[in-house]
Amino acid sequence: MLRIGLLTSGGDCQALNATMRGVVKGLANNVKDLEVYGFMNGYKGLIYSDYRMLSAKDFSGILTQGGTILGTSRQPFKLMRTPDANGLDKVEAMKHTYHKLLLDCLVILGGNGTQKTANLLREEGLNIIHLPKTIDNDIYGTDMTFGFYSAVNIASDAIDCIHTTASSHQRVFIVEVMGHKVGWLTLYAGIASGADVILIPEIPYDIEKVCEAINRRKERGSGFTILAVAEGAIAKEDAALPKKELKKRQEEIAKKYPSVSYKIAEEIEAKTGMEIRVTVPGHMQRGGSPCPYDRVLSTRLGSEAAQLILDKQYGYMVGMVNGKVKKIPLGECAGKLKTVDPNAQEVLQAKRMGISFGD
Ligand code: F6P
Repeated sequence: MLRIGLLTSGGDCQALNATMRGVVKGLANNVKDLEVYGFMNGYKGLIYSDYRMLSAKDFSGILTQGGTILGTSRQPFKLMRTPDANGLDKVEAMKHTYHKLLLDCLVILGGNGTQKTANLLREEGLNIIHLPKTIDNDIYGTDMTFGFYSAVNIASDAIDCIHTTASSHQRVFIVEVMGHKVGWLTLYAGIASGADVILIPEIPYDIEKVCEAINRRKERGSGFTILAVAEGAIAKEDAALPKKELKKRQEEIAKKYPSVSYKIAEEIEAKTGMEIRVTVPGHMQRGGSPCPYDRVLSTRLGSEAAQLILDKQYGYMVGMVNGKVKKIPLGECAGKLKTVDPNAQEVLQAKRMGISFGD
């Protein structure tokens, strides 16, 4: 008998279902007696013992389905050691659920925060496998996370649509792209859709340089400019501030503007006199069916996770390294962020083609 638990935690993304399907099909085809416990709404389900028994049938037909059949929630890592409103020790409660159900392994699908809790549970003696999900692609130790390319497709489609209206009206357009503190999604969506300016947190922007790029295009006869701006984009002068002052500054910006793109828009308008619009595709970027690349990636990661469980190898994230699916010790990647290297090939190649990063 093999008993596994499954949970999806943090912001959802495409291919969560496809990944769980890979795990369960990979096990069901190779184990006679398999019990699958699906914990509802992320770590909450594990803490409060809220689960559903699942059969292979539950994983049929979900390869292309977005979201997560288990539901999800955000349970901040920094609060995991803090008792809940009723004084319940959450870590002990999770361990209790795991042992009560006699689980052989718990498979956790999630991003950075989720991974930190997964590693904590590993340190507490549970058998854990982590699978890297996020549209942000910011998980250290894997080249790619599932969800990323699906989100790149959606953000690129949004910028493509903006392109036609921007050129018709000769306007400057900012499309704000998700990505939390990193610029992977903006960089890839920006390149894929031919953005003229790409602003990402890893390369703090100088507003003068951004305006120069817009004016240069105008002088060359292109009266419109498309900016792909990461939600975490940061001005050069702000990036230079000490941590505490930066936090204060970001709070001020958040109070005054719905997001950083509106601040940038105001500054560009004042400096260039051009008509400017902001578009925020927002959570659309996390929604809908996974793209074929993500379906393949998640199926491969899920299947490999199944093999690790069959081999009783626990305590790993299953990721993609140089085109191969690999196991990476959780202790080596948890708590680290994978950011865009400002000198990455993608950035330098884009710059060579005239794309401005505002630096
Ligand atoms: O981590 C995925 C992500 O979509 C980020 O890109 C974004 O900053 C954040 O989640 C949004 O979180 P929420 O769904 O809580 O609004």
